[in-house]
Parts: sequence; structure tokens; C-alpha cells
Amino acid sequence: MTAEVRAIRGSFFDFVDDPWKYGAREKEAARFTRDGLMVVTDGIITDFGNYEDLSPKYSSLDITHIKDRLILPGFIDGHIHFPQVRVLGAYGSQLLDWLQDWIFPEELKYKDRDYSKEAAKHFFDALLAGGTTTCQAFTTSSPVSTEEFFEEATRRNMRVIAGLTGIDRFAPDHSLITPDEFYKESQRLIEQYHRKGRNLYAITPRFAVGCSADMMERCRQLKEEHNDCWVNTHISENPSEVRTARVEFPDCSDYTHVHEKHGLLGPKFTAGHGIWLSNDEFSRFSKAGAAIAFCPLSNLFLGSGLFRLGRALDPERPVRVALGCDMGGGNAFSLIRVMEEAYKVGLCNNTMLDGSVNPRDQDLAEADRNKLSPYRAFYLATLGGARALYLDDLLGNFDKGKEADFVAIDWNSGQAAVKWHQSLITEGNPKTIEEASQLLFGVMAVGDDRNIDETWIGGKRAYKKA
Ligand code: GUN
Ligand code: ZN
Repeated sequence: MTAEVRAIRGSFFDFVDDPWKYGAREKEAARFTRDGLMVVTDGIITDFGNYEDLSPKYSSLDITHIKDRLILPGFIDGHIHFPQVRVLGAYGSQLLDWLQDWIFPEELKYKDRDYSKEAAKHFFDALLAGGTTTCQAFTTSSPVSTEEFFEEATRRNMRVIAGLTGIDRFAPDHSLITPDEFYKESQRLIEQYHRKGRNLYAITPRFAVGCSADMMERCRQLKEEHNDCWVNTHISENPSEVRTARVEFPDCSDYTHVHEKHGLLGPKFTAGHGIWLSNDEFSRFSKAGAAIAFCPLSNLFLGSGLFRLGRALDPERPVRVALGCDMGGGNAFSLIRVMEEAYKVGLCNNTMLDGSVNPRDQDLAEADRNKLSPYRAFYLATLGGARALYLDDLLGNFDKGKEADFVAIDWNSGQAAVKWHQSLITEGNPKTIEEASQLLFGVMAVGDDRNIDETWIGGKRAYKKA
């Protein structure tokens, strides 16, 4: 079969390293290719660089020129719930009540294949419209929902991580799955989907409050038997949840210990939230190579608290951090909106109600790490997310050999577009990395899905804004 080769010309902005490591020189972690060319062969980037240098080599190729846009790697969402797409924006309560009132009744409907199939279409449409090309997702305790999730992802050729969601207590009976059934169905689903196409499987204990020690043991067994699989869960999201988890696992010294005890904390382990983790727990996450998905939209929408990003990123014991929208706990799919809220959470961490500086028992270096510059924010949404999820060998930036998933951002769209255009960029398109990053900050501060003009998967356009 002959290879399918495509070329895309435009202004590219991606990351080669972690901007937090560079302090005031953070732009050195980014790469702005003002007039660039990306060559994609069968979905993989085979060449990338300046248009002027590369174009003579590819004169026989038809080149797609994406004008007046910034092209970034597709966004990576480390924590989202597929079966909550139809309860987005449910009024009223904090985590544990919200789960009982809205979420468990809705997720029950996903035993129905048609319901799941239809929802999967909406789910992936909404992701692509927000510029998200990869996600790590929860399904339900019904294998039907996991199957329909992977089937739809396969049709769209998207790189995804997901798994059957284990819960054997704390929900109505029909929403539960026994540890034995969970183990058996997880085995089958791993066989059927893991590393088939671009699908990856995550062993998924929903959270310690909903998982008995038996369920956690089954997760350990699955991880031992399928070490290549990911592990996805929630941790320390809400104070009532943390207290309940401690009651349910009285022999564990803290929430993180529950996962250590069952052999899960390690590389490819991600836990959503982590708002109430102690410094010692952060240290153990760091040592284990485990990740936290920071979900500020959800943390504010459910009133869960302010995640201490600067503390998690302490260079003495840095934790891997991805961003997550946590839809429907989060009230949007858009990682642009997530970045905006993450920025605000950072500032709130640095402000006490009485107005004094350096609050919340943190030093100035920690306070500085809370501040989400555009470099830091878009790093987390792309290469940082890929590193947190152990996907950076596959995607996250435009290095040769990576998968060609990307977004074309229209800064001149949505609210206040014209204002940015005139005041931040004096003449036309961004010419320098500083101008480009300033525009990107404008996008994250004021923007949303309306700024995503196109989303490409494997070198093919999968979404174009109407
Ligand atoms: N903890 C356990 N299940 C959930 C869920 O569906 N959403 C959130 N935000 N937290 C959870
Ligand atoms: Zn969640």
C-alpha cells in the first residue's frame, strides 16, 4: 500500500520542555515556527520546520495552508467522564450529593447500547469542537458504555485512554458491579481494545469511597497481569469524601496509602483532583511517577476547593500534572476554559482574604509556581499532559515521529476578538514568540470553543467550525 503523505503550512506553536524549569526564560521551553511546514505520513509527523527550508524538498506535494491561525498540538484532557455528557450543568450540590442525585441515575442509562452509542457521538463531537484530541475517560460500571466509547473513538481514529469503571458500594444497587464481574469484564475489554488502533486501556477503580478492599485487590490483580495498562481514579477531591475514605480504609494512614497498599500508585497512574493531599502524599506521588489531573472547572463548580499547583510542582519532589475538564463535574468540555480557571485558582492561592501576600502556608517560590503564564498553561494542555499520562513518546508536540493531532486557533474570534487583534498585535499576525504567547494568553483568558477553528486527527481535518 502506498503511504498517504500530506503537508500543512502555517504558524506553529509547541513545547520542547517544561516552562517551570526555566523561570524568567520560560519561552525557551516553547517553539514558535512563524512560517512552518509539517509533513505527515500515514498520520505520523515525518518532517517539521521552517517552510522556506523544507518546501523545496516537498515541491511535488499539495500543501494545505492554514492562514491567520496558531497551530498547536491537540489538547490532552487527563480526566473526563463520557457518561456525564447529558447532565452537564446540573444544579445544586457538592460532590457526594451530586453523585447520588444526578450522576448515578444518569450513568445507569448507559446499559442501553443505543443510549450509549448516541451519547458517544455527542461526546466526541464536543471534545473536537473544544480542540481536545486525546482524553483519559471514565465510562460506567456497564461494559456496554466502555465498548461504545472505544468503538466511537476507533471510528474517529482518536488516541484515548478509558476503562470499565469499578464501583461496588456507595451507589444504588443497579449501579454497582461486583469485584468478580469487574475483573472478568475488564480482562475481556483489555483483550478487545487495549492497543487496538489508538485505544489504550485504564484499570479504573472509581474512587476509594465506592470501592471495597476486594475491588481494590481485583484492580491490583489486573495491573499485575496487564502492567502495560493505565490506572485511572479520583483522590482527595472533597473534604467529606476524604473523611469517608478514611473511615472505609481504617488501616490506611491516608488516601494515597489506599492505592499504595493495593499496588496501584506508580507510572501510568492518574488520580483526578488531589486538592487535599498532604506534602507527604505529594512526595510519594512524585517518587512513584504517578500523576494528578488538575480539574479547576470541576473544583469550582462542585465547590471542592483550590488545588495547590505550586506545591505539587515543588522541584524537590515534582508531581506529574495534567489538566482535566472533569465534565460533568466540570461545567464545560473546553480546555481553554480549564486553563482560564486554573489561572484564577493560582491567583486565589496567592491571595488571602485579608489581602496579605504569601498566604496558605507557602513560600514565595511556591506562590510563583502557582502563576499560570500562557507558556505554563498551554504546556499543561499539550506536552505536559502527555508527559503526565506517559504518552509523550506518541504525542504532545510536533517532533518527528509523533502523531499528527493538532488544533488551529483563531484568536480573532469569540468575545472581544477585534480588541485583541488591534491592541495586542499591532499589525497582522504574531511575528515573535512573545506576541504569539500574548495572544494565547488572550485566548485562555477570554476564549472558549469559538476560538477553535479546526481540529485535526492523524493529519486529517476532523472538525471545522461552522
Ligand atoms: N468521584 C467519584 N466519582 C466522581 C465523578 O463522577 N465526578 C467527580 N468529580 N468526582 C467523582
Ligand atoms: Zn471525575
